[in-house]
Amino acid sequence: MNKRVLITSALLYGNGSLHFGHLAGSYLPAEIYARFARFTGHETLFICGLDEYGAAVTLSAGKNGQSPQDHVDFYYKEALKNFGRFDFSFDHFSRTTWPRHKEAVIEFFEDLKSQNYVEKITTEQLYSEKDQKFLADRYVEGVCPKCKFENARGDECPKCGASYEANELTNPKSKLSGSPLTLKETEHFFLRLDLFKDQLLDFLSEKNWRPQVINMAKQYAEDAKPRCITRDLNWGIAVPGEEGKVFYVWFDAPIGYISASKDWAEEINKPKEWEKYWLEPETKYVQFVGKDNIPFHSVFFPAMVMGQKKPYKQVDELPANAFFHYEGRKFSKSDGWFIDLDDFFSKYSSDQIRYCLAANAPEQDDSEFSWKDFQMRVNAELVGKFGNFINRTLVFIAQKVNGEVLEPKNARDRDKQYLKDVSNLTDIIKEAYSSFHVRKATQLIMELATLSNVYFDETKPWELAKKDISRMREVLAHCLIGIKALAVVSLPIIPEAANKIWKMLGFVDNLTDSNYDERLKEPLNVKARISKPEILFQKIENDMIEKELEKLKVLN
Ligand code: MF3
Ligand code: ZN
Repeated sequence: MNKRVLITSALLYGNGSLHFGHLAGSYLPAEIYARFARFTGHETLFICGLDEYGAAVTLSAGKNGQSPQDHVDFYYKEALKNFGRFDFSFDHFSRTTWPRHKEAVIEFFEDLKSQNYVEKITTEQLYSEKDQKFLADRYVEGVCPKCKFENARGDECPKCGASYEANELTNPKSKLSGSPLTLKETEHFFLRLDLFKDQLLDFLSEKNWRPQVINMAKQYAEDAKPRCITRDLNWGIAVPGEEGKVFYVWFDAPIGYISASKDWAEEINKPKEWEKYWLEPETKYVQFVGKDNIPFHSVFFPAMVMGQKKPYKQVDELPANAFFHYEGRKFSKSDGWFIDLDDFFSKYSSDQIRYCLAANAPEQDDSEFSWKDFQMRVNAELVGKFGNFINRTLVFIAQKVNGEVLEPKNARDRDKQYLKDVSNLTDIIKEAYSSFHVRKATQLIMELATLSNVYFDETKPWELAKKDISRMREVLAHCLIGIKALAVVSLPIIPEAANKIWKMLGFVDNLTDSNYDERLKEPLNVKARISKPEILFQKIENDMIEKELEKLKVLN
């Protein structure tokens, strides 16, 4: 990995609350990767923010009888609170309604325009006779031009992920009134994506992305045609010199990654610091998004960047994830098919859910959250394997050797084999994190816990306690090394538990004060004493899960 890493997560729409679907897809994988990047000694900037413009916001504000500004103010606070509960480690969480963003967007536009990559074109747009106005894409519904899905949105299809112009829909209707729409001439700015086609295909040809991501990206680059970047709306960044027009939200939002980095640099009082990440080619830039965002991040935004005078970093890695559902259905607050986070966090912990979402990350295919799986992940894996090994070892040490932190002295073959297995796994876990295989990382961590339990069971320290104390000490010393390894490898996913384990082992500094490899190599703190261990994870009882499922039965 490069020395410096820039990580962004798709900016969250400012029209609703965070749910597990978002988390598992674009946020938690980024958060895990950011913790991993820092812990492996990389200078890391992890950026996110709220995507506050666009018709998605005006639509939902309207439904709530709120002004768009009040609406996004509310969801900004919500987002901060919720990401905090999941122990996110963003370096900055920005807002696209902040002034620096507007400046950056205008600069992008002017650069593109001065090089003729943006053109004013007379076009036919969807017009509602009933409302006497042009309708922005999100106010339009119709049949998807690609997959024929009946209720496709005006700019992208929720079913197949296609991205298109609203006037390409078959049978377009107003989302508000249901009335049919007609095409009428008007002027708009278009981004000449077609002019970037060869450059885009070249750029994509070097990428080693997941097949589903790169295939979709290439297909969009092949189809590159001018794309309308302005809208007839009054909520958004006003297009210079135009009445009643704002930039299309997908034009302004990705620039938010840059303006958010500038906000961050101001906040830390090093106003030029953002340039290290955005203008230096050695930076590695990783964008985490959901699959519906692939065209915008692999083609649309890269073309916008290609048309800039400043040499902004282009995306290097785009580990886009599939969708994540809830008990067989899409998360939907309006249908009641969602999990209330106040309620959730009154009963469960951040580590429990982070682990469960990571274990089910929709890396290849869509996946889902189910309460039974959550209970199994927590009880059988976190408590039963991971926690059990740590707990049984530390309890034993507290009781039998007065909490002494033991060191290996005369390792036997079985002990050496154990250390070799540990070291093998810590290497492949690192590899899994580096290649964005979060699901695999969770499996390997459990493998490490399992083979540690097997080592404990086979060497039987409880029997050795009665007949061979020095052998017992040797075995326990090796178990402590295994526990240290578990703390190191699990930090990105379950930071609270990992830090607790570190302290339980008697270290006085913080686990992240040094890095992954150093921590694995370094000796234990023999001066410390181990006291009776704390509980790392609470078990989830059947009746708790029954109650959660009851709530859904009412809806089914
Ligand atoms: N808000 C969009 C979504 O949730 C993502 C915007 S990503 C950005 O689908 F690049 F435009 F910021
Ligand atoms: Zn479709």
